[in-house]
Amino acid sequence: MDRPEHSVLFVCLGNICRSPTAEGVFRHLAREAGLEERIRIDSAGTGGYHIGAPPDARAMAAAQARGYDLAAIRARKIAPEDFEQFNLILAMDEDNLVHLRGIAPETSRARLGLLLDYAPGRQEREVPDPYYGGRNGFEQVLDLVNEACAGLLEELRRNLP
Ligand code: 4NP
Repeated sequence: MDRPEHSVLFVCLGNICRSPTAEGVFRHLAREAGLEERIRIDSAGTGGYHIGAPPDARAMAAAQARGYDLAAIRARKIAPEDFEQFNLILAMDEDNLVHLRGIAPETSRARLGLLLDYAPGRQEREVPDPYYGGRNGFEQVLDLVNEACAGLLEELRRNLP
């Protein structure tokens, strides 16, 4: 990609449920808005249990039903370089945000926050971990992620020339 003007990294624990969903939804919205080439978009996990794995089959199926394709995503663990390469790093929940704050290099100028900061109409602050729950958890992830990604895109758009 040719020097994108924005860069966003979505972060959860395993990088197989919530953050790949956010990556796929946000990429879809950015593409629809004609902005995919101008925003670097990726996801990572704070844990390394699933490195190299595709997204959870339940997350892929729920996303597919809403028109989002997560199949090409592979799990990876966040690395120190991410704090230099992304200007916005958004965690799915407080635990992951605390983890990010703990490992951020002192030289990092990346802005850290929660994805749901961009869904001000919602009372929830965290995207709940759906891994050990039922199908409904994945639908809830999509509802929350969708709303926040739309808000995030609006915000970034305002800052693009
Ligand atoms: P994620 O969900 O953080 O949304 O990808 C999880 C995936 C795997 C595990 C926990 C959460 N795990 O413990 O393996």
